Amino acid sequence: MKYKIAVFPGDGVGPELISEGMKVIEKAAELDKFEVEWIKYPYGAEHYLETKELISDKILKEIKNSYNAIYCGTFDNLTPGPGILEKGVSAVIRDYFDQSVSLRPVKLLPGVESPLAGKTHNEIDFTVIRENTEDFYVGAHGRAKNGKNKHKIKIEGNSFKVKFGVDIETKGDEIAYQIGILSKKGCERVARYAFEYAKMNNKKKVVAVDKANLVGCYNFWREIVEKVSKEYKGIDYDFNLIDTAVMNFMRQPEKYEVIVAPNLFGDILSDLGTMLQGGLSFAAQGNINPEGISMFEPVHGSAAKLKGQGIVNPIATIWAGALMLDTIGQQKSSSLIIKAVEAVLREGKTRTQDLDGNNTTSEMGDAIVDKFIEIHD
Ligand code: IPM
Ligand code: MN
Repeated sequence: MKYKIAVFPGDGVGPELISEGMKVIEKAAELDKFEVEWIKYPYGAEHYLETKELISDKILKEIKNSYNAIYCGTFDNLTPGPGILEKGVSAVIRDYFDQSVSLRPVKLLPGVESPLAGKTHNEIDFTVIRENTEDFYVGAHGRAKNGKNKHKIKIEGNSFKVKFGVDIETKGDEIAYQIGILSKKGCERVARYAFEYAKMNNKKKVVAVDKANLVGCYNFWREIVEKVSKEYKGIDYDFNLIDTAVMNFMRQPEKYEVIVAPNLFGDILSDLGTMLQGGLSFAAQGNINPEGISMFEPVHGSAAKLKGQGIVNPIATIWAGALMLDTIGQQKSSSLIIKAVEAVLREGKTRTQDLDGNNTTSEMGDAIVDKFIEIHD
């Protein structure tokens, strides 16, 4: 089997990290007998500052027509004004390829300290499954100045086109607004993904998160997830208000197995999860289109100040690579990479600065490659 992978090393330490991820995948390919062809694209903050270029339709089409997956390093907000790269690269990829699910394993790996005193790695081991294209991320927002304002807003989703005519009159005030949209198909597919994921991974419970008590559109979400839950007899279902979820993440993270959330709450919950699992060094994310092209990345930023020093831990990027291999059909390599990561951390001989050690980014990558070879039959 041969895979064509689009690589976006990104900016800051992104390129240093992604080359470790590629190194591990290349070893897996050699031992498990598949081939990988990497095609690199330059998009990132540094490239943007030099060229003003963001990802174009032509490149997106090129990837859609002949690639199996996308592997990203890190992006950061080094650009003037918020969100240029987030909107111009990350969100564009998620939208264009309809990557409806964000998969974020929150696992405290052995040998890693959690900020929650006394929690061991068996007690923090859950997955956040986030709807990844809708909700308040549909990009519909505006501002209105004092007086009369008329706006036209168009939103196009996968299964809908919406036009709002907004008529605003303020008296001595200005306002800003954001419109969120949820579709039945969008809610259903992420809910179904969460239950299927639970089934495949032997998890007993899915908890859906919302704020239906005050934000009306989440009643719709809750009804749809609840209906999907009825199709899965052996898996328990419950919902949490987002308020409860954040408190319980801190109080009893061991109670969670699979969490499914709308886009914005899912974003925030994943990052709370990032801290529970010991920080950005371990936060890997898959942006998944179950029937199409998915993208895999460590959770950002890109630690621009540390660029070129070779000291950042590449584990999140390597783990994202393992998620990618799992999705494209190389489950054996994927689970062996995760086992190798766990073994290296458990043994604790190779430790980067975040783990109070002196090893470099590439020494950590090498240790994982060596362990992969050692445990491979
Ligand atoms: C993430 C990031 C993104 C988000 C950006 C980069 C679009 O915070 O991957 O969680 O808000 O979803
Ligand atoms: Mn985020």
